[in-house]
Amino acid sequence: MKGGDDRVLTSVKGNALRHPAVIAAGAAALGALLVTNALAFMRGMEAPWLLGVVILTDMLVIGVGIFVAAREVVTAEHETEVSRGRLQAILDSAMDAIITVDDSQKVVLFNRAAEQVFRMKKDEAMGTQLERFLPQRFRGAHRGHIEQFGSTGVTSRRMGDVTTLWALRADGSEFPIEASISQAAEGAKRYFTVILRDITLRKGYEDQLKESQQELRELSARVQEAREEEKTRIARELHDELGQLLTALKMDLSSLKENLPGEALRAKADEMDRLLDQTVGATRRISADLRPLMLDDLGLVEAAGWLVEDFGRRSGIASRLQLSGGEALEGLAKSVSTAVYRAIQESLTNIARHAGAKSAWVTLAVQEQWILVEVEDDGRGIAPEDLAKSRSLGLKGMRERISYLGGSLDIARAPRGGTRLRVRLPLRLEQEAAA
Ligand SMILES: Nc1ncnc2c1ncn2[C@@H]1O[C@H](COP(=O)(O)OP(=O)(O)O)[C@@H](O)[C@H]1O
Ligand SMILES: [Mg+2]
Repeated sequence: MKGGDDRVLTSVKGNALRHPAVIAAGAAALGALLVTNALAFMRGMEAPWLLGVVILTDMLVIGVGIFVAAREVVTAEHETEVSRGRLQAILDSAMDAIITVDDSQKVVLFNRAAEQVFRMKKDEAMGTQLERFLPQRFRGAHRGHIEQFGSTGVTSRRMGDVTTLWALRADGSEFPIEASISQAAEGAKRYFTVILRDITLRKGYEDQLKESQQELRELSARVQEAREEEKTRIARELHDELGQLLTALKMDLSSLKENLPGEALRAKADEMDRLLDQTVGATRRISADLRPLMLDDLGLVEAAGWLVEDFGRRSGIASRLQLSGGEALEGLAKSVSTAVYRAIQESLTNIARHAGAKSAWVTLAVQEQWILVEVEDDGRGIAPEDLAKSRSLGLKGMRERISYLGGSLDIARAPRGGTRLRVRLPLRLEQEAAA
């Protein structure tokens, strides 16, 4: 290929001939020649020398005309050649592989990146079918897709929005790609251009990231499960062991009281009795806070009822539980009932700590195969930045636990002000459904 300066000069020369001043001068000269010709033919007999001069001038002008026209054609061809070269240079410097095919899906353009990506020389690719760059299993469908795209009249679009696209190298190996397609008509012919890039590396990173997220989620679920088990064990011991010991102590004290001599000692025993009652109450409360044994013994509906009522009593916030489809909530997997219970518990704790609310509404319902939980308050409402607080783990933990079980969590400002938290959980876990 020639140097760049040469190309610029050629195009300047070519353009100079088409300059309006040059065209005007040419037209004027041609006009003058016509007039001279007419004069010469009218007076031809009187002055044969004039006729001779005019004929000579005519021949000269025709000669120059042919020369200029021929040069124009050569220049135009050269310019086409140059701009084709320039286009090829641009295409070859592109980072993405570019392949153009004609109506019959034969390759008519194959840039350098395409050579690298497909590990195939341009000469080898030209004229072959586009299909050869696709794994066998996609070929039939692909041809249809391109034809369908051709009939839409849309000029360009991304390919494979929903799934990963795969391509085939000359050596037979497959790789994931990201691609777009465009179409352009040139006269009666239509061309399709596919621009694509190899995303093997990126897809690898994405897969790794997904995998490690999944691992973290599983780890977090295991940790929560272990904590839950630990809490259950302590709650049981507090309730059963300590509870029984305290009850025994209380019975002993009452028999002792009957046999005590003197007012002062009996008053002391009454005081001890009150203290014992308080201790029994505190033990029950601590045990229930750790893990309501009711949840395991009586089920979610009972436990949720107790939770909302106990919260109302303790916080002074008017709290109501609305239940529907309660029967379906029996026999839930332990992880599901625990997740629902903990979600309600965390939401109520948040209402008491952050909302400044007067009322709280809890709804627990079953709709088709989903458990729906809503906790709403009439407090100050939650701001988007509250959810991003790095030290706040309550809602994050809830989200993690719920999405691990295949559900979703949505927290937003409630229509009547305040905050509304919505949980959706599958009634049956995947493992159970499969079993
Ligand atoms: N019902 C609510 N009303 C108003 N703000 C809330 C409510 N629930 C949560 N928030 C806000 O969201 C933040 C994050 O809550 P959470 O993840 O439970 O963490 P923590 O309760 O430990 O702060 C809270 O700090 C609070 O600012
Ligand atoms: Mg919290």
